[in-house]
Amino acid sequence: MELTGEALERHWLPFTPNREFKREPRLFVRASGMHYWSQTGQKILDGSSGLFTSAAGHCRPEIAAAVAEQLQTLDFTPSFMRGHPGAFALADGVAALTPKDLNRVFFCNSGSEAVDTAMKIALAYHLARREAQRTYFVSRERAYHGVNIGGTALSGMVKNREAFGALLPGVLHLRHTLLPENRLTRGMGASGAELAEDLQRFVQLVGEKRIAAVFVEPIAGSTGVIVPPRGYLERIRAICDRYGILLVFDEVICGFGRTGEPFAAASFGVTPDLITMAKALTNGAQPMGAVAVRDSVYRTIIDEAPGGAPEFFHGYTYSAHPAACAAGLATLKIYETERLFAKGRELSGYFQDAMFALQDMPVVSDVRGYGMLAGVEVKPGKAPGARGSELQARLFDRGLHVKTTGDVAIVAPAFIATHAHIDEMTAMLRDALAEY
Ligand SMILES: Cc1ncc(COP(=O)(O)O)c(C=O)c1O
Repeated sequence: MELTGEALERHWLPFTPNREFKREPRLFVRASGMHYWSQTGQKILDGSSGLFTSAAGHCRPEIAAAVAEQLQTLDFTPSFMRGHPGAFALADGVAALTPKDLNRVFFCNSGSEAVDTAMKIALAYHLARREAQRTYFVSRERAYHGVNIGGTALSGMVKNREAFGALLPGVLHLRHTLLPENRLTRGMGASGAELAEDLQRFVQLVGEKRIAAVFVEPIAGSTGVIVPPRGYLERIRAICDRYGILLVFDEVICGFGRTGEPFAAASFGVTPDLITMAKALTNGAQPMGAVAVRDSVYRTIIDEAPGGAPEFFHGYTYSAHPAACAAGLATLKIYETERLFAKGRELSGYFQDAMFALQDMPVVSDVRGYGMLAGVEVKPGKAPGARGSELQARLFDRGLHVKTTGDVAIVAPAFIATHAHIDEMTAMLRDALAEY
């Protein structure tokens, strides 16, 4: 039965123009592999892996079976003072994919919670080192770090901040690295590594021992795919090292093979102190986030705490929920047995060729991309973002689901995609773009 009118009134959709959605609802009722089906029976190719979640394709029976079995065996374990085997197994599985010294894993339920957890770990770490005066955080313009208060304060996307006022004091924003000189560059741009020196200026501005952590998305995803310029991340790392600042990579989109390696840290050869992750951790089948933490950071917080009480007063009722852990374990197994990160890497050349070929469309102002992630930007229409939102509606009607932000279509297919899927996506994009 189609949902329309009154039946749509009470659900308040996030990050959605509710009035327009309810006038013209676009509901999914089923998914499998590379496709969704709408409530009107239309088959829709998924160009964004859901919301960068479903890297192994939709409705994987292995994941569904693991979750069903878990829910019939042990549906819930109190997450404080109790545990269950799946949580430890999944922490091992995640640690096997993260850089060498990032072996401690704190579970939560979303990317936003992972970001706020990482902020609190950074503060607790510096307190344990008797540097409690390190209360500043640094992030970047155009960054997206989720929607909790901490992550919103870190955010550099104006629309996500402006309704909420001052949020946290003490957050400094580096300039973003979306430079006109790097327009239409495939992979990492040649210009802009020197923008990392903004961090040095902040150190001079607030004091050498005042900054707790720097948050960076290795590739800024939600803002429209900004690939770091060559040398930029290395310079940020070097300044963090010089001043004892923790470096956090927010890999909620980049993690789990999107850049061709398990994490972008490996793709770019720069190792942070913490990595936040979510989305593809469970292939999107269960809500889950996590923070991978450098051993020495974990040890400092644990060893400096008095015994007999939690060392870190933080956690969620649903931290390491058994069903989410089961989904995570089944997902990691699929990634491994189907060599999906390698498959994504192999497919990325064909995918990037296809996306960069769209630059011949007159309405396209930029194409950016790395691995299995690309941003196709169109020239703005009557207001910034108006065309982007119109474009995603037109694509949907043609049979393609793509996430847009502002005037950028963010294309991120699942790693099970074939050349034929990429061709089909490109044809629908071309067709919709040709209308401008
Ligand atoms: C880099 C980054 N951090 C955090 C988040 C927030 O994740 P969630 O929506 O699961 O809270 C996102 C979501 O897209 C993200 O891209």
